[in-house]
Amino acid sequence: MDRLNGSARLMIVSDLDSTMVDHDDPQNLSLLRFNALWEAYYRHDSLLVFSTGRSPDSYQLLRAEKPLLTPDITVMSVGTEIACGESMVPDAGWEQYLNQRWDRDIVVEETSKFPELLPQSEIDQRPHKVSFYVEKDKALKIIGVLSERLEKRGLDVKIIYSSGIALDVLPRGAGKGQALAYLLKKFESDGKLPASTLVCGDSGNDAELLSVPQVYGVMVSNAQEELLQWYSENMRNNPSIIHATERCAAGIIQGIGSFCLGPNVSPRDIRDFQKCKVDIVNPGYDVVKFYLFYERWRRADIQKSTQHMQNFKSVFHSSCTLVHPSGTEQHIHQCVDEMESLHGDRQGNQFLVWVDRVSSSQIGLDTWLVKCAKWESHGAEKYCCLTTILMSSKAELPNDFVWLHVHQTWLDGYGVKQPGTWLI
Ligand code: GLC
Ligand code: MG
Repeated sequence: MDRLNGSARLMIVSDLDSTMVDHDDPQNLSLLRFNALWEAYYRHDSLLVFSTGRSPDSYQLLRAEKPLLTPDITVMSVGTEIACGESMVPDAGWEQYLNQRWDRDIVVEETSKFPELLPQSEIDQRPHKVSFYVEKDKALKIIGVLSERLEKRGLDVKIIYSSGIALDVLPRGAGKGQALAYLLKKFESDGKLPASTLVCGDSGNDAELLSVPQVYGVMVSNAQEELLQWYSENMRNNPSIIHATERCAAGIIQGIGSFCLGPNVSPRDIRDFQKCKVDIVNPGYDVVKFYLFYERWRRADIQKSTQHMQNFKSVFHSSCTLVHPSGTEQHIHQCVDEMESLHGDRQGNQFLVWVDRVSSSQIGLDTWLVKCAKWESHGAEKYCCLTTILMSSKAELPNDFVWLHVHQTWLDGYGVKQPGTWLI
């Protein structure tokens, strides 16, 4: 079910809209801060789970729009669909289990008797999820009456109200909390229960996540009234749950810090990597740091100086070659010269660089093979290269790596039209 050999050090289970993703932050700053933190310190031994109300299609639309990382597991449609891995293999066992005392046609028939229930779009209607919009003041009464009627028809359902507008009818055994409990049980039976689990949410359908036993929880600062109310009625003074003072992904980072679950300073918040040495042997950290420097250089967020150029050169072995995604091979000298001339060519906040799916394996005593998907976006344009880097660690400084070889290939559909704009 997951790519780790042992138990995850940390499993983060996060909602997407208004939790991982801040729709009021067009630059996605807090999301990118989380991404850098995750890839630098957690990706290699921890698990990322997205748990969203969105259907698979609507989730893909969000992925195309926002710089979301690739999760290890995706729980969609309010805990009615579970998909594993990058290729998103559906968990058929889960969907089958949800058929118990569930009949979608009966739900549609009974709900159609309430004119106040406005059906959501087709994209959000799923085999085990029937969804509507309804005003806050009417929701409570409808939930009561509808539950009774569906019970009389032999169904066992759960009705969830979220964001002061969305009403979902699901099988009783479904929901974000039940889906997480199912995953935890699977991990446990494989002897791979994560050492810690942190759940994060903002709205009504996330309440269940926070009530799963033995997990830490964050309600982001911008959490909806219905979640805060549920918390004060059911979970008040539970020391394992915080209401963050930070919005969205910044609130998740705050949660990691509050519960002492691991590093909580995003590399994006470190201005000077020379002064702020990190004591870990992890080539993933090196990759994140390098591409942040690259972003800052091209944006001219850092000044053009011989010291910076020196630091850039020191990343590479003198015989390093780069296979550019267009197929040409470059010697490192050429790349260093080009880097120098590109200072500030992408000024302003339109240019962003981030890495996803950083994985590394030690293939020799001091040699590592590192892979990642490296993304660049510039305004509305988005590019990605699958990047493989051969690195060696320096004997005297094992957490300092030197790059021996870099090979890049365009990710299908995300190539640059003018190869000159893509350096490394
Ligand atoms: C997401 C889904 C929607 C659902 C809501 C609350 O917005 O797209 O169908 O009703 O979450 O769970
Ligand atoms: Mg949400």
